[in-house]
Amino acid sequence: MSTPTPATPSPSTGAASTTPAAELRGVSQVFGDFTAVDDVDLAIQPGKLTTLLGPSGCGKTTTLRMLAGYSAPTRGTILIGGDDMTRTPPEKRGLGMVFQSYALFPHLSVAENVAYGLKLRRVPAAEREARVGETLDLVGLGHLAASKPKKLSGGQQQRVALARAIAIRPTLLLLDEPLSNLDARLRVQMRAEIRRIQGETGLTVVLVTHDQDEALEMSDDMVLMRAGRVMQQGSPQQVFPAPANRFVADFLGYENFVGLTAGGTVTVRPEHLAVEPATVPRGGADQTAGGLQLTGTVTDVAYRGVDLLVTVVAVDETGARVRLVSDVRATGTSPLSPGDDVVVTAPAGRLVRLPD
Ligand SMILES: Nc1ncnc2c1ncn2[C@@H]1O[C@H](COP(=O)(O)OP(=O)(O)OP(=O)(O)O)[C@@H](O)[C@H]1O
Ligand SMILES: [Mg+2]
Repeated sequence: MSTPTPATPSPSTGAASTTPAAELRGVSQVFGDFTAVDDVDLAIQPGKLTTLLGPSGCGKTTTLRMLAGYSAPTRGTILIGGDDMTRTPPEKRGLGMVFQSYALFPHLSVAENVAYGLKLRRVPAAEREARVGETLDLVGLGHLAASKPKKLSGGQQQRVALARAIAIRPTLLLLDEPLSNLDARLRVQMRAEIRRIQGETGLTVVLVTHDQDEALEMSDDMVLMRAGRVMQQGSPQQVFPAPANRFVADFLGYENFVGLTAGGTVTVRPEHLAVEPATVPRGGADQTAGGLQLTGTVTDVAYRGVDLLVTVVAVDETGARVRLVSDVRATGTSPLSPGDDVVVTAPAGRLVRLPD
């Protein structure tokens, strides 16, 4: 920053001037001869919800445990609020954590569960009571303060676990797949609930998930991991339309990968791929420059209620056989069936070029 003129503040993630709430610098975690987290650089922006997203075993929990202080990195530095806390024990980091299996104390009431961390921190009784009340109201459980956990539904228990972690007013709230024990419907409700709580409290949240819908819906910032490495980081609006590589594209539901003679691959989402019978005459106008057009044969048509998934086998520019999937809205009966010769097209604006 050499110019003294005030720059236009960059929106959300572009704010490089604020100190990250937490930072990993060159962090690795090696178990025996297995590298679970491999030279990760990561900045967690304050007041935002960041998700760590990736398939099972990619190192999400290991990363979270190192942030929390439950395991020390083999190499690298962990900063929290700008301070080096690489060797600081968990209880001195001021963090709240909810694990995948959120064990509540069964013999304690909801209020006592939430008060637990405050007692450990020797918060005086009057303040403790006030904070427990506040926090239970925040998660919508004020009326169940005196209940025992076993009388609560899964979603209510999850909220108690969340309240227990929030009550200590953590500098950073770490959530490891907090919704994975809930049924599908409740999980979707709780996504919105966690976002609301995050918005109202301004807490910095790091949430681990392997569900891309959850990450897209909840994140300010998402971090895609594979085999202990960060593949891409950015807002859902940045990452979803522009995956950095084939792994990210695949993980986010891009199903069509077409090789180019010039090298590289283009990918396109099933909902942006059109399939028409080869017999329909095609005007030159819709063959937009740079768009995709391949001929192929339908191998499957799957009815899914609101839409149809049409699978086509075609040959790409490089001569390789490719399996293409088109997601089209189901309007009455499908004009396509297996064996049909078809033309598959996608407009240039929907193609994403991937490196080799
Ligand atoms: N204490 C340990 N000792 C040896 N290997 C470990 C240890 N903890 C984790 N690992 C290995 O490190 C890799 C990453 O594990 P981690 O728990 O971080 O994955 P994850 O991304 O959280 O996966 P999941 O989505 O299944 O929870 C896995 O291959 C795991 O087996
Ligand atoms: Mg895990």
